[in-house]
Amino acid sequence: MATEKLAILGGKPVIEKQDEALFHWPIVNDAMREASTAVLNEGVMSGTDRARKFEDGFAKWQGRQYALSFPSGTSAITTAFFTLGVGPGDEVICPSFTYWASCLGAQTLGAKVVFCDCEPETMQMDPAAFEAAITPRTKVVVAVHLSACPCDMDRIMDIANRHHIAVLEDVSHAQGGHYKGKRVGNFGQVAAMSLMSGKSFAIGEGGMLVTDDYEIYRKAIRFGHYDRIPQVFSMEEIKDTKNMPFGAMKNRLNQCAAAVGIEQLKKYDAERAEIEKAMLYYWKQLEGVPGFRIMWPKDEGSDKAGWYASRCHYDPEAFGGLSNVTFAKAVSAETQGGYTPGCYMPLHTSSLFGKQGPFPVTERMNQLIVSDPWFKHCDTAKIDLYAAAVRKVAAQWEALLPLDEGVPPCDGGLGLTDFEKKKRV
Ligand SMILES: Cc1ncc(COP(=O)(O)O)c(C=O)c1O
Repeated sequence: MATEKLAILGGKPVIEKQDEALFHWPIVNDAMREASTAVLNEGVMSGTDRARKFEDGFAKWQGRQYALSFPSGTSAITTAFFTLGVGPGDEVICPSFTYWASCLGAQTLGAKVVFCDCEPETMQMDPAAFEAAITPRTKVVVAVHLSACPCDMDRIMDIANRHHIAVLEDVSHAQGGHYKGKRVGNFGQVAAMSLMSGKSFAIGEGGMLVTDDYEIYRKAIRFGHYDRIPQVFSMEEIKDTKNMPFGAMKNRLNQCAAAVGIEQLKKYDAERAEIEKAMLYYWKQLEGVPGFRIMWPKDEGSDKAGWYASRCHYDPEAFGGLSNVTFAKAVSAETQGGYTPGCYMPLHTSSLFGKQGPFPVTERMNQLIVSDPWFKHCDTAKIDLYAAAVRKVAAQWEALLPLDEGVPPCDGGLGLTDFEKKKRV
């Protein structure tokens, strides 16, 4: 059989037109529409009743004692730093390979963010690098479960406990995920996460903090949920400060988003099961393609809940040194988009954090990753075409080498995927 010419070289693409429905996110159902309309009709737009109901349901679903809602993941994480006592003179360790909101809030509170390198196979924080970054000033480590993969919680917890460092989990990419059978977000003293519309657990804009520690929960309220302060502090406790929010924040979740969240809780587990079915089917079709590999946690009982912004391993050596930039461009030409090189701008390259590094694994990571399609439905016939497109390009990589000359290596850019760019423009 004659080989089909690659689309990037003028051949016929495998997919002429993308089916947007395969990727459309979040899925808004009638119950969500009715729930948010009810908030508008009842005129409770600034209350907290919906938020509390959402928090109660979320805490149960997560398996933690307390949940507190926020207008964003950024505000939830910043508050979590406050609850752990982060302030001037302290250091917070965070992987450089993540989104800025995992750590920038610590700097707002006056602490120094100290970065560490990641592991090439998992893209997650390297526990040994975390341990090497510890100083007497280290107060907190941020365990980010990046791109839905859980990080190595056994080693991170062991190191943190030995050095008396608190663990804050950033679960923005992995709501409902597991590490060795235990739900992520249930390891550290506190966990916080984004629930914005691009995330797997999506409610529009929003965030959640979860903990089993009542003192952490109370401090979180004290930071920016000013109207709830008298509900968790006695009059005696607040007689001097009154009910002032210590963080000068107003962190109340919008009630329409809370109403959407209550409904999202009812369907999220089914949605992520469908995503998992679709993604694992896709990767089954790609088995045996050298150099293009699934990113999947190695431990039994660990998973990738929701598969937020799917990424996979790309090995340039398997393609004669061909860059992921040209490879992703060639596959995207076959599928009308969906494949982009790299994913995150290493945070230590921003002068905002002062000079740090080098972190060799992190600095190379963007050349070893392709962000690939994030299927929301298991439509096998359509998914087959994406797998066929990857196979077509992988079989003809030599024809791409001339296009690769002079292509700058991917440095993560602004850290936005195709999907995120489209959503935010
Ligand atoms: C890892 C991570 N942490 C935190 C955040 C911040 O969440 P939000 O955008 O809801 O403020 C995001 C993304 O948005 C993220 O990707």
